[in-house]
Amino acid sequence: MIYNELAAFPDTFLWGSASAAYQIEGAWKEDGKGASIWDTFVRIPGKTFKGTTGDVAVDHYHRWKEDVALMAEMGLKAYRFSIAWTRLFPEGKGEVNPKGLAFYDELINELLKHQIEPIVTIYHWDLPQALQDEYGGWESRRIIDDFTHYAETLFKAFGDRVTYWVTLNEQNIFTGLGYRQAMHPPGRIDEKQFYQVNHYASVANAKAIASFRKLVPHGKIGPSFAYGPVYPYTCKPEDILAAENAEELSNHWWMDVYAWGEYPKWAWSYLEKQGVAPEVTEEDLAILKSGIPDFMGVNYYQTSTVEKNPLDGVTSGKFNTSGKKGTSEATGTPGVFKTAFNPHLETTNWDWEIDPVGLRIGLRRIHNRYGLPVLISENGLGEFDKVDEDGRIQDTYRIDYLRSHIIAIQEALSDGVDVIGYCTWSFTDLLSWLNGFQKRYGFVYVNQHEEGKHDLKRLKKDSFYWYQRVIQTNGDTL
Ligand code: NOJ
Repeated sequence: MIYNELAAFPDTFLWGSASAAYQIEGAWKEDGKGASIWDTFVRIPGKTFKGTTGDVAVDHYHRWKEDVALMAEMGLKAYRFSIAWTRLFPEGKGEVNPKGLAFYDELINELLKHQIEPIVTIYHWDLPQALQDEYGGWESRRIIDDFTHYAETLFKAFGDRVTYWVTLNEQNIFTGLGYRQAMHPPGRIDEKQFYQVNHYASVANAKAIASFRKLVPHGKIGPSFAYGPVYPYTCKPEDILAAENAEELSNHWWMDVYAWGEYPKWAWSYLEKQGVAPEVTEEDLAILKSGIPDFMGVNYYQTSTVEKNPLDGVTSGKFNTSGKKGTSEATGTPGVFKTAFNPHLETTNWDWEIDPVGLRIGLRRIHNRYGLPVLISENGLGEFDKVDEDGRIQDTYRIDYLRSHIIAIQEALSDGVDVIGYCTWSFTDLLSWLNGFQKRYGFVYVNQHEEGKHDLKRLKKDSFYWYQRVIQTNGDTL
């Protein structure tokens, strides 16, 4: 083998794209759907850009056939979408709503008709409001059984046709923004609660996986973790140590639990001393070990760079994970690291660092530490796209971004990492949770309300045709 030759993408590689129910469906009250915590949160003044809601989103609930036809035209091999818990169980539990089930049933069949592999995300942040009201949602251990029941309903209904499943989308993000930064529902800042909520979510994740083994024995399941590999700012030993601390607190804290059913030891003792480690029972630990995933789902957008925190040892402080240029306060428990701006990386117009090499590094780290296959369940570029006078959207920047990340995957494959698929974020443009419709990620442009165009018409961007060709040639034409 020539040293520099890159491995070919396997024939089974899942060239995909992704979405989430709240960000595309709309129809927030239709066919018996109940309210989710997002339906409530966006109605609080000042929470989202210009008060944007997902009431209509990109109206996928009514236009799903058109959207699937576009996927088929593109030749997509896999489509990752999430199920709205509140369509199936308007109150989060009890009797299943047949209309909710029917919607996803038809969608799955339509995808299969076009040889598109469905990848079903069970939870992408839209918790039933009723469960939040009744017992605080993820704050109570009662969520574990309700989540498992909901997941089992899906396994029984769709497990005969759906092979790939994602349990929780970005557990680290929805809990961080919800319980550390108050930017997502339920809008709290409470470090102890943050770790407790995470523990319940991890147990729910494992319990659902254990149940999946019985109900869908041929299937593949895993979480989607928002992985930002950590770099040290310099080669000063103190900075290296800070980076290791950050990797453990920001990444291993979740991935070790998924892959091994165990919390990382140093982080555990550190958080215990801070008084924020979660309460964990023996039974919980047994459940965690009984639900090990088939793959690690990774949502990759950027790396993070850290240095020694001069306030090391200080036990309280502010948290800021804005991702903006310049240093910011330490993420998570203060004291053991401080985030820094990486001077070697360019940023997007939304100040997100662009780092394809970081993807290769992250894939290798996962492979070396856990030995699990990896599904890249999200990666993409949010931009302000513009439609030309002739109706064309020339998103060369997106093509460049995706191309560089696909090359990084190919390099990781050559390094020996088992990457099973790549889902771009996103297929159509969609609602950004807090930023309305100005930040676009799709291959398909959607005319939005706030631009005074109400037709929600779909327009193919240049990247659509580019990715179509990538898929056709199985990654040979980048
Ligand atoms: C991750 C989330 O899963 C998705 O919902 C979000 O829109 C993208 N990242 C972009 O921020």
